[in-house]
Amino acid sequence: MSLRPVRLHIATAVLLLATATAWADEMERVLPVAHAATQKECGECHMAYQPGLLPAASWNRVMDGLADHFGDKATLPDAVAADIRAYLTRNAGRGDGRLLRISEQRWWLHEHDFRADVWRRKEVGSKANCEACHRLAGQGDYDH
Ligand code: HEC
Ligand code: HEC
Repeated sequence: MSLRPVRLHIATAVLLLATATAWADEMERVLPVAHAATQKECGECHMAYQPGLLPAASWNRVMDGLADHFGDKATLPDAVAADIRAYLTRNAGRGDGRLLRISEQRWWLHEHDFRADVWRRKEVGSKANCEACHRLAGQGDYDH
């Protein structure tokens, strides 16, 4: 008797996977960062992630939380923060706005379903270290 709900779950899973794949294709090439303040202030500790990699709601969450940014303090003068926020949200992409990280987005997880020890390799170190594997990541090119 439970056949129907199970089928529905499978249909939903297939649909979500298809969406994740389509979004990953969309992120294959994103516009490079073309905003001096973002490049400078957000490229200090890691590469400046391109705005198209996250939806606007996620960027707003990141910008709201700079005082405790993944354990670091990344606060900026109000005017600079507002300028960066405007740039990121205006050029945002798609995804789940409840999530702060690119590396937590469904499309991203779908593309990066590797064995756990891959992330511990010393030349990788972190999922956030896009450039370790995508040598042209700084230019918004994830096709390599
Ligand atoms: C003082 C250092 C520092 C500065 C400045 C900084 N960040 Fe970060 N950021 C971090 C750290 C640390 C992490 C977590 C990295 C990890 O998980 O390996 C991170 C992670 C992130 C992530 C999540 C990456 C993922 O896993 O998908 C985003 C998005 C992000 N930062 C955006 C920004 C933005 C936007 C700015 C500029 C307003 C900024 N960061 C400035 C230190 C910094
Ligand atoms: C440990 C290596 C590694 C790290 C680190 C990594 N990636 Fe990837 N990524 C890959 C591999 C491998 C693929 C699959 C490539 C393929 O199938 O063509 C991929 C696929 C992708 C794709 C889809 C490309 C396409 O052709 O559809 C995007 C977009 C992407 N990664 C973005 C990122 C971003 C953004 C980061 C950092 C937050 C990141 N990756 C970190 C290895 C990595």
